[in-house]
Amino acid sequence: MIGVLLLLLLLPFLLYIAAPQIRKMLSSGVCTSTIQLPGKVAVVTGANTGIGKETAKELAQRGARVYLACRDVQKGELVAREIQIMTGNQQVLVRKLDLADTKSIRAFAKGFLAEEKHLHILINNAGVMMCPYSKTADGFEMHMGVNHLGHFLLTHLLLEKLKESAPSRVVNVSSLAHHLGRIHFHNLQGEKFYHAGLAYCHSKLANILFTQELARRLKGAGVTTYSVHPGTVNSELVRHSTLMRWIWWLFSFFIKTPQQGAQTSLYCALTEGLEVLSGNHFSFFMVSFEEQKFLILMKSHLSIFSFITCAFGVLSKKLLPSPRSQRFITVFFQQFYSFNIKFRSMILLFFFLNFILFTFYTAGSFFFNIFIGI
Ligand SMILES: NC(=O)c1ccc[n+]([C@@H]2O[C@H](COP(=O)([O-])OP(=O)(O)OC[C@H]3O[C@@H](n4cnc5c(N)ncnc54)[C@H](OP(=O)(O)O)[C@@H]3O)[C@@H](O)[C@H]2O)c1
Repeated sequence: MIGVLLLLLLLPFLLYIAAPQIRKMLSSGVCTSTIQLPGKVAVVTGANTGIGKETAKELAQRGARVYLACRDVQKGELVAREIQIMTGNQQVLVRKLDLADTKSIRAFAKGFLAEEKHLHILINNAGVMMCPYSKTADGFEMHMGVNHLGHFLLTHLLLEKLKESAPSRVVNVSSLAHHLGRIHFHNLQGEKFYHAGLAYCHSKLANILFTQELARRLKGAGVTTYSVHPGTVNSELVRHSTLMRWIWWLFSFFIKTPQQGAQTSLYCALTEGLEVLSGNHFSFFMVSFEEQKFLILMKSHLSIFSFITCAFGVLSKKLLPSPRSQRFITVFFQQFYSFNIKFRSMILLFFFLNFILFTFYTAGSFFFNIFIGI
């Protein structure tokens, strides 16, 4: 008893000690490309904090001239100074860009095109999540307006420069949340129905669709494009949701640091030979069909596990009739036994259908991803 109590008391401390290792395990590696970027020009949106800041820092570290495209120039200047001191690269510049205002986007692009001869890397990173319902200066729903339409316009305005600078790359920072996204053309501005969480998911799906279509249209132009899921990252993204802020705080020891979160963007921006995968979605350093494979495995295993567990639960009265052998059945099973046979069979059926559904769904999207390119 004392031992258990001691263990419980020690648990937070042990977790605290183990947290960096657990985080490292979950962070799925670093971008190992050794490529250096002297003479290269990069733009990173939303670079004054979080993943964008770390992405910009790494590009500056490798010698690129990096533009921090920020809506808060003062914050941007502080970060630029910090990056200059850390990397010794003085070519870290801040320019005003508010993606919630097309005038600001056009002004940024105009200034950039006048100032720079080249653009080799464009990282469309800035994003908002779970904002209360609001609209951009041009009347677009905020998530769709900032996360997708703003970046869409920015990329369009810089496209000729990207083509002139080929080989060049566009990286769109999306999210795993795209799985829940749907493009509701009848309610694009969220006027008929609005859910802050889903609005984010829709905009992140738009990032992926944009990436695929851009890749298709730019085939042969020397400009390649990738969308990425950076992982779950301890950043300011959750600022609009108290619940999410608590969850992030609670798990802050285990989720990725912004530096770890920047790795997939950097991987797509820097890795040599990635051109053939233009248009793909990268997650955990894998192309989307790898992600799909991973999901199939996860979901199928989970469902098979649940199915077998429940089947065992239903049958075990027959298989394990003696009370002695039933002692081996876990607390979960004891709970399960408190239900009558009909209810147990229903749960079994539920998991079985779940298994069929998930397997077919994920296998279907896997198939589409590889063979049809959706
Ligand atoms: N954190 C995660 O777990 C996670 C997971 C999946 C995907 N992502 C994606 O990763 C990207 C970076 O997010 P993060 O985690 O680094 O979040 P963050 O720390 O909140 O950074 C977001 C950046 O976007 C900027 N931004 C917001 N609205 C803008 C606007 N209207 N115009 C220009 N810049 C604007 C912010 O500027 P201000 O500081 O001025 O607000 C900030 O620099 C986002 O696209 C996000 O959707 C993050």
